[in-house]
Amino acid sequence: MNEAFGDAPLRATARAGANIAFIKYWGTLAGEGNLPLNSSLSMTLSDAVTVTTVAFDPDLRVDEIYLDGERPLDHRAERVTRHLDRVRAEYYPLHARVVSVNSFPAGTGMASSASGFAALTVAAVAAFGEGLPDPRTLSVWARRGSGSACRSIHGGFVEWHAAEADEDSYAEVAFEADWWDLRDVAVIVSADAKAISSARGHRIAQAHPFMPTRRELLQRRLPALKAAMLQRDFETFGALVEQESLEMHAVMISSTPSCLYLVPETISFLHAVRRWREDGVQVALTLDAGPNPHLICPAEHADEVQRRAEALAPGRTVVHSRPGPGVTLLEEHLV
Ligand code: PMV
Repeated sequence: MNEAFGDAPLRATARAGANIAFIKYWGTLAGEGNLPLNSSLSMTLSDAVTVTTVAFDPDLRVDEIYLDGERPLDHRAERVTRHLDRVRAEYYPLHARVVSVNSFPAGTGMASSASGFAALTVAAVAAFGEGLPDPRTLSVWARRGSGSACRSIHGGFVEWHAAEADEDSYAEVAFEADWWDLRDVAVIVSADAKAISSARGHRIAQAHPFMPTRRELLQRRLPALKAAMLQRDFETFGALVEQESLEMHAVMISSTPSCLYLVPETISFLHAVRRWREDGVQVALTLDAGPNPHLICPAEHADEVQRRAEALAPGRTVVHSRPGPGVTLLEEHLV
């Protein structure tokens, strides 16, 4: 027991899944806090997870941050420290040792920042031993670290509401994980770090001339997607998911500076899924801010989709997820 902090454990570990967006977040309002230009909807992933331990220590003079076994001293560590500062401002000004491990390669468009900042938020708050605030508050806090992290607080299919006021932009469950057994077969065609970070890309997108039209279209696309999900109508759902991803990349590619995340193998997959659908395979392709195709399909088609993906990209890592749970606190600690 630490005298100054009573019974506070000062240490906690959380696990969070990454998420794949069906309606995308690309573009923030001017200012701090990652307030998005539009609402979005994603599926939390069962098999792309981050586990993070936060151990506050009154003897530490600086934060010690370990990400996937390394101790980066660059912007990645700064981002974690800035996020801890926000949590510390609500509790006590203690420094921490943070150990975070991903089950998938970071910086590949697998949205490690989403699972990372969701796990970091919950582990840091839990470490202070005062109980967790309500899920809406946790989602707002995670969003301030990385926008899409607010969706990874929850499991299943999650909607993030756009709003101008900080406390009004949070994510909540739209459909529980067992509503629809959809799969995400993600193919890692490139593990290179992105040339333009998504944080920068969101700011670049603010001024894009297509953005007013895109925001208007999304007012109809998001409800249409939810209606298709309610009916479990994959044909309508898949068409909307693929159109949405292509539209986001059209904005990315044509912005100034240009955010070109696609590589030749991504284009091969875009052609391939069109052929596969002609063969009767139910599949839609979506992309994050990276080159790696996420092949979304109903469970019954997942083995066939994975077989075809492995034949098209032999030797590539494939991460096969179902709708996963929200953030979970673990008993075992990494430090
Ligand atoms: O939360 P960020 O800054 O990693 O942004 C993620 C943006 C996309 O992955 C491209 C889309 C989304 O909604 O997840």
